[in-house]
Amino acid sequence: MKEKIKQLANEISALKASDIEELEAIRIKYLSKKGEVSNLFNEFRNVPNEEKKEMGQLLNQLKETAQEKINTLKDALSSNAAGTQKEDLTRTAEALKLGTRHPLSLVRNEIIHIFSKIGFAVAEGPEIEDDWHVFGALNFPPEHPARDMQDTFFIEKNPDILLRTHTSSVQVRVMEKQKPPIRLLFPGRVYRNEAISYRAHCFFHQVEGLYIDKDVSFADLRQALLYFAKEMFGAETEIRLRPSYFPFTEPSAEMDISCNICGGKGCPFCKHTGWVEILGCGMVDPNVLKNCGIDPDEYSGYAFGMGVERITNLKYQVKDLRLFSENDVRFLEEFEAVL
Ligand code: DAH
Repeated sequence: MKEKIKQLANEISALKASDIEELEAIRIKYLSKKGEVSNLFNEFRNVPNEEKKEMGQLLNQLKETAQEKINTLKDALSSNAAGTQKEDLTRTAEALKLGTRHPLSLVRNEIIHIFSKIGFAVAEGPEIEDDWHVFGALNFPPEHPARDMQDTFFIEKNPDILLRTHTSSVQVRVMEKQKPPIRLLFPGRVYRNEAISYRAHCFFHQVEGLYIDKDVSFADLRQALLYFAKEMFGAETEIRLRPSYFPFTEPSAEMDISCNICGGKGCPFCKHTGWVEILGCGMVDPNVLKNCGIDPDEYSGYAFGMGVERITNLKYQVKDLRLFSENDVRFLEEFEAVL
């Protein structure tokens, strides 16, 4: 019997299986009720008593070895199967995942596109500016609160170097260098010292517009903005200009559009007024033209400035400004199908 066990153990350790059917055949041959190992267990009855202890141990070992061998063969087969699947050359390739444009870029591009159709080109200016271009040339009085540390991030004091708080600074840069006619948009990032919340951030984006030529009137401004509002928010959109104040425009106005969520009927979004504010605008103040070397008796012009986040919120109802700078892919992917 000892011999028989040894022989079987050798046989079993040399076993190979190339597929699951062969493996099953092996299991039946050795471990099933009528298999070779079980047969030996049946013969155990006839083993003389003094050998029973040793034979019992050997038999149990044999059974374990056989079970282990079958398990190893099974593992090898299943990892092989996974291996072949990876190299399956007939499988269709998986689509490459493309990135998406940031919603603020989409909206900025749309604003630029709309104004390009009425002759506006694009120019850019620096984000790190001096006091003259952000405030001085734009007619801000020396004590104006916007110059305060509370609003502005200063990089150096005396002479003041700061992060621009609005893109109106690019108006000055352009007018200092370029002779009218000027018809330009200035898109860019601006910075203000605000506590970050769902409705305010310490940086955000604006698109500024400037048109300087002979005989530019407030009616031209209104018409350009009405065209923009209808292109951006739909042909049924109406606008309303409310008198306002900015140091660099005279007269100044703020523009509302009819609420694009309730269609002007009144809803929580427009605080039941039917209107939502979207930009500031006005006729360029003669002092600003003078500061930039343009003769206000010969030329006039209009300017406007809008927040890109504001327009994006209106178009896509993004409730929390912070989403724009968190780079959460789940949020960004929502804009996959846009444009
Ligand atoms: N610069 C203003 C702001 O940041 C926006 C603005 C208002 C720009 C009126 C203009 C304008 O060009 O005419 O709040």
